[in-house]
Amino acid sequence: MRFPKRTVYCGEVRPTDVGRRVILNGWVARIRDLGGVIFLDIRDHTGICQALIRPAQQPEIARQARHLTVESVIWLEGIVQWRENPNPALPTGLVEIATEAFGLLNPSVPPPFPISDDVPLTEEVRLRYRYLDLRRPQMQRHLRLRHRVYQVIHRYFDQQGFVEIETPMLTRSTPEGARDFLVPSRLHPGRFYALPQSPQLFKQLLMVAGFDRYVQIVKCFRDEDLRADRQPEFTQVDVEMAFVERDDVLALTEGLFAQLWQELWDIELKLPFPRLTYAESMSLYGTDKPDLRYDLRIHTVTDLFADTAFTIFRTAYQQGHVIAGIRLEGGAAYSRRELEEIAESVRPFGLPGLVWIKYDTDGWHSPVAKHLSPSEYEGLRERFQLREGDLVLLVAAPWQTCYPALGALRQTLSRRAGLISSGSPEYCFLWVVDFPLLEYSAAEGRYVARHHPFTAPLEEDLPLLDIAPEKVRAQAYDLILNGEEIGGGSIRIHTAELQQKIFTLLGISPEQARQKFGFLLEALRYGAPPHGGIALGLDRIVMLMAGAESLRDVIAFPKTTSGLSLVDGAPAPVEPEQLAELGITLVTPDQTS
Ligand code: AMO
Repeated sequence: MRFPKRTVYCGEVRPTDVGRRVILNGWVARIRDLGGVIFLDIRDHTGICQALIRPAQQPEIARQARHLTVESVIWLEGIVQWRENPNPALPTGLVEIATEAFGLLNPSVPPPFPISDDVPLTEEVRLRYRYLDLRRPQMQRHLRLRHRVYQVIHRYFDQQGFVEIETPMLTRSTPEGARDFLVPSRLHPGRFYALPQSPQLFKQLLMVAGFDRYVQIVKCFRDEDLRADRQPEFTQVDVEMAFVERDDVLALTEGLFAQLWQELWDIELKLPFPRLTYAESMSLYGTDKPDLRYDLRIHTVTDLFADTAFTIFRTAYQQGHVIAGIRLEGGAAYSRRELEEIAESVRPFGLPGLVWIKYDTDGWHSPVAKHLSPSEYEGLRERFQLREGDLVLLVAAPWQTCYPALGALRQTLSRRAGLISSGSPEYCFLWVVDFPLLEYSAAEGRYVARHHPFTAPLEEDLPLLDIAPEKVRAQAYDLILNGEEIGGGSIRIHTAELQQKIFTLLGISPEQARQKFGFLLEALRYGAPPHGGIALGLDRIVMLMAGAESLRDVIAFPKTTSGLSLVDGAPAPVEPEQLAELGITLVTPDQTS
């Protein structure tokens, strides 16, 4: 199809163009027929420009324009002129185009929703008509931001001497904790490929292969329960380096974020990012991914209540539980009802509630006031640095419950008290390091790797492997941004002996290890260098940079929370012949019941 090609983008027509002849290509965003004049708003990804038609002078053009429908695709040619009624809200709002000719390239049926950021839409309709949703300015901005992020990443790693290498999508499953998506093999009936949960083992093999610095922007697949910050297929910036220690990986990663913020926003990030050990993070913030945009630290005050008359705290003390709490500045103003609502946030942790204590101008107020002694009050005042008008919320429970409950409380308080400014965005990066290597899974009756089974223990903890495995810390690290885990990695085990030992601790028999990871164990024997790396969650990073609420807002064609792709209807049934070819017989739920 031949048609007049654009000479300028719609959003870029300016007063300096007045008097110039221009051609636009785009979509009809709005048609206003005022009788004496017809206005067409024409849109492309840069914005909107108004075109004017005068029916009295241009009867044929006006007749055609009156047949246009919104979202039809047109070309339009005319002369840029000053507007009679300028619209200062639009970058093109001082000018318009006096139409001389236009042509319809393709008419549109009425769209199911207006293409605008101002209309509330359900996610279902947005995902069903994703190609229209993506036409909206906000989604255009998000995906174009994502593109710019890719470009900086590629440039940064290239400058740092990294080699981009693709790893297979049809793989054998590696245990990363989630379920695999399986792909049946036609050539080998009864056998399955797994889509990679991450390229973990391949990047380690590349280190054995002498590639030294590997990077890949790569799709990963995990069949897990979905949330706003999880997708079944998502993108990692996957990195591995040989001859490095933990701090080399951290510094390299920090450099990437410094470059991103610098190039995209001209913001200088303060490096290095702060670091907390896992133990510190849990006891100060009640989570391993704290949001540091607000302080609200947890203070542990168990020792203040050794001899208390308050039975609940005394019993907790005697049972070795933890008593800890959070101070909220100015929180004494909360009503009893508000405090009851706040207390709801600890209930999911199996706690009946919490103890609130107000320190106000007229003294202390609390439902348990009469049980606390002056020295206990004084202790609280000192520990929490209380000032008049403050509120303290205390929880007594085993530490495994106490800290996470306070972590949830921290989030509730920050939301209620509006501690995160909705104005200028703030970016609080943080490394959490020294995670436990293993955790005991009561469900499986064995230790499981907290990160993955290829993570190296801290060297000083190696002697504990035999006597107290649960106390061993890992050379693992997570990168947190505003309370979201945006990356995780570790220094790896690079000797076959230690790797075998960890497999054994994890209850993986030598036979199973040979079967599943024989290729890794073998490769480690051929001169594997010390190595380590990290994988960054690209979707999460772009989500935070875009100020979006969900990963779905920064992925062109995402899945719903129930794993459906509404635009193409995947997953969908397949033809019986396709199944037969794969040697697969379906057992439908009806047949099993
Ligand atoms: P990990 O499993 O921690 O590490 O993943 C790295 C990062 O990927 C992001 N991420 C996700 N993003 C969206 N949807 C998901 N379902 C999802 N799952 C993870 C997170 C996370 O921090 N191979 C190791 C890395 C390594 O050790 O080098 C790995 O995959 O931001």
